[in-house]
Amino acid sequence: MKEEICKWIAKNLVNVSEQEVITIMEVPPEDNMGDFALPCFTFAKVLHKNPARIAQELNTSLKEVQEELGIEKSEAVNGYLNIFMKRDKYVEYWINKIKSPDFGLIKAGTGKNICMDYSSPNIAKNFHVGHLRTTVIGNSLYRIYEKLGFHVVRINHLGDWGTQFGKLIVAYKKWSDEETVKEKGIEELLRIYVKFNTEAEKDPELLCQARNWFVKMEQNDEEAIGIWNWFKEISLKEYSRVYDLLGITFDSYAGESFYRDKVPALVEELKSKGLLKKSQGADIVDLSEYNMPPCLITKSDGSSIYHSRDIAAVLYRKETYHFDRCIYVTGLEQSLHFKQVFKAIEVMGYNWADTLIHVPYGLVSLEGAKLSTRSGNIIYAEDILNESIERAFHAIQDKNPDLKEKEQVAEKIGIGAVIFHDLFNQRIKNVDFSWEAVLSFDGTTGPYVQYTYARAKSILRKNSKEADYENIDFHALAEDRGYELVKALSGYEEAVKKAAERYEPSVIARFLVTVAVAFNKFYHECPILQAEESTKQARIALTDLTQRVILDACGLLGMACPEEM
Ligand code: ARG
Repeated sequence: MKEEICKWIAKNLVNVSEQEVITIMEVPPEDNMGDFALPCFTFAKVLHKNPARIAQELNTSLKEVQEELGIEKSEAVNGYLNIFMKRDKYVEYWINKIKSPDFGLIKAGTGKNICMDYSSPNIAKNFHVGHLRTTVIGNSLYRIYEKLGFHVVRINHLGDWGTQFGKLIVAYKKWSDEETVKEKGIEELLRIYVKFNTEAEKDPELLCQARNWFVKMEQNDEEAIGIWNWFKEISLKEYSRVYDLLGITFDSYAGESFYRDKVPALVEELKSKGLLKKSQGADIVDLSEYNMPPCLITKSDGSSIYHSRDIAAVLYRKETYHFDRCIYVTGLEQSLHFKQVFKAIEVMGYNWADTLIHVPYGLVSLEGAKLSTRSGNIIYAEDILNESIERAFHAIQDKNPDLKEKEQVAEKIGIGAVIFHDLFNQRIKNVDFSWEAVLSFDGTTGPYVQYTYARAKSILRKNSKEADYENIDFHALAEDRGYELVKALSGYEEAVKKAAERYEPSVIARFLVTVAVAFNKFYHECPILQAEESTKQARIALTDLTQRVILDACGLLGMACPEEM
């Protein structure tokens, strides 16, 4: 149908291919602009005509064939050719597409590799809400790109190297002991780290000691490495609880420490390329030509730093994974860092510097959350997730006390709610966290989408037979609500593509809300199980497609859907 129309249009325009028409044919934002619209601006140059005239001419000739193309009417408006399909033809066309197991599978990435660097918490520190954001956004982007056929390597670039571990070793030796760290884990490490910083203000000697311990770490000193390894183990154990709750795994945990022995080779390379400069005892790459502060490579004591470890990391990744794109999901405040790293790669002469992409996100404000904190004012991502599960559990107990497997359902709702809330707004925007906004069963929330899915599933369970796609009475779905639902579902492929292009899971989250709203209207206004047989079967088929698409799209966000709730 769409293809036929595009073919016809291409035939009517000199020097325009069918593929070009297919690519630019849009689905208009408003229903009164048609089911498809062709922006004729694109052809103005090739055709030496103004867009309005192109649209008008196409519109006039289209009238003659509209019947055979399944078109109800068309209009030329402001340089657009707006096309309104006959509803039953439209519904038929899309249902046939959506029912195919390949629907939404756009194989744009076959044979291509992506490195996705996300989560990447800092060892011996708490896994905080900022890290929850990179984890959730990165995981969703990974799933979206996999869906497009890319091979994605999930990398957790742990913050497990740097002067702060020198501080921690000093603090541990002075103010803690094995027993306490074993018992209290990260909480104790945080406590002594904070203590170190207050004490160091009074006694700068401590900083010297810390620096010395870090130098020892860089020299592979047995004691230093032993303590550091132990702290790392403790941290990873804590983080894995968060990853388990979210259902997230990584392909590599090669963090900053992994690259420590790769920095000397980087220094040599920079030297041989004439890019290394001395500045106050440190080695830098001068980026003033690009209006950027210098990129620090090694400090005056010879130790590596965040920047140089990142440059070494990207070189290693290119060699190891042959990536076509390397994506970094971090807070907006690291924008300059990545600009410098990417620029350094460029000035080193690598022509793939433009395949390095920083995907930044905004801050989370927890003011509205009223969280009970474990100790002090420190907020742990794990506590947020657990509290969300608990609240979901109470909500179920209120709404549906007879539900089976309440714990499992509560986990899916609680976790899904946090994920959805994080992903619903454009990632660059700051997030205001409040339990009402996260867990409400109504509105633009995860539970609302999950509830829609469960509702569809429950209708299907009540129907005596499986959805039948072979003999659908399309006419029965051509009334407003059915048509609108089909139209909402038809946007899935576009949403996946757009989300990938913009590194923006919110496109999928919004798509899900559109589908959920359309389904709920359909459900309320069009009786399904009570309808006459052929209408009933048509509506059942549409209900089945809806739950399939919701489940798949929720999967792209990294959230599960309970069958009942
Ligand atoms: N550990 C860093 C942080 O918590 C994020 C690391 C991001 N990835 C990278 N390759 N620099 O802020």
